[in-house]
Amino acid sequence: MHFIVFEGLDGAGKSTLIEGLKRELTTLGESVVLTREPGGTELGEKIRELLLTKDGESPVARAELLLYEAARAQHCDKVIEPALAKKHWVICDRFSASSIAFQAGGRGLDRKTIDQLNSFATQDLAPALWVLLDLTTAEAMRRMQGRDLDRFESENKDFHERVRQRYLDLAKENQQSWLVLDASRKPSELMLELMAKLKERKLWPA
Ligand SMILES: Nc1ncnc2c1ncn2[C@@H]1O[C@H](COP(=O)(O)OP(=O)(O)OP(=O)(O)O)[C@@H](O)[C@H]1O
Ligand SMILES: [Mg+2]
Repeated sequence: MHFIVFEGLDGAGKSTLIEGLKRELTTLGESVVLTREPGGTELGEKIRELLLTKDGESPVARAELLLYEAARAQHCDKVIEPALAKKHWVICDRFSASSIAFQAGGRGLDRKTIDQLNSFATQDLAPALWVLLDLTTAEAMRRMQGRDLDRFESENKDFHERVRQRYLDLAKENQQSWLVLDASRKPSELMLELMAKLKERKLWPA
């Protein structure tokens, strides 16, 4: 069992690849917990609502960050740690790197503060692998066409460009714990590459 996180722009194809990975692992008899941020717990899902809605008062950037971190602390203690203790796989749609990409890259908050808050919220829990689905903002937006966009998805192109760049910087900073996939490829190709890389990194069931 391993803890694996998927990151990337909204519309990059995280949910699609996560479902594929879950299917492959389940077929091999592994037990898999799928979860997401913000959310994953009852409290976290309520915070998710507050964060993503376009109705009412928007949080200022610092409040936004703190709401994410509150949901994350709850998620780590109530879902991720217990599942790992039971030797389940945990596959998570977004985690602490999203706060660096969106709140530092997108919103311009101080990186060091975010690192400290991430460390506090997660108690330094980190996945065995971060998978970045890298896609141009134009293609990500195209894939979201027709959807009712949430508060982040409604941000402008520059915001999403900064988020994308921050993800790429993060992955470059820490190549042994990040895998960058070119998300413009077909889902079936992405799945094959993901499985090959997990095997290479000894993160696949023996
Ligand atoms: N590799 C791919 N190539 C083309 N289209 C894709 C690919 N992966 C997913 N899609 C399509 O793009 C859209 C967004 O995919 P998906 O919901 O998996 O992205 P996401 O990263 O989970 O987005 P969100 O962050 O909004 O949840 C969907 O309509 C999906 O069918
Ligand atoms: Mg999704």
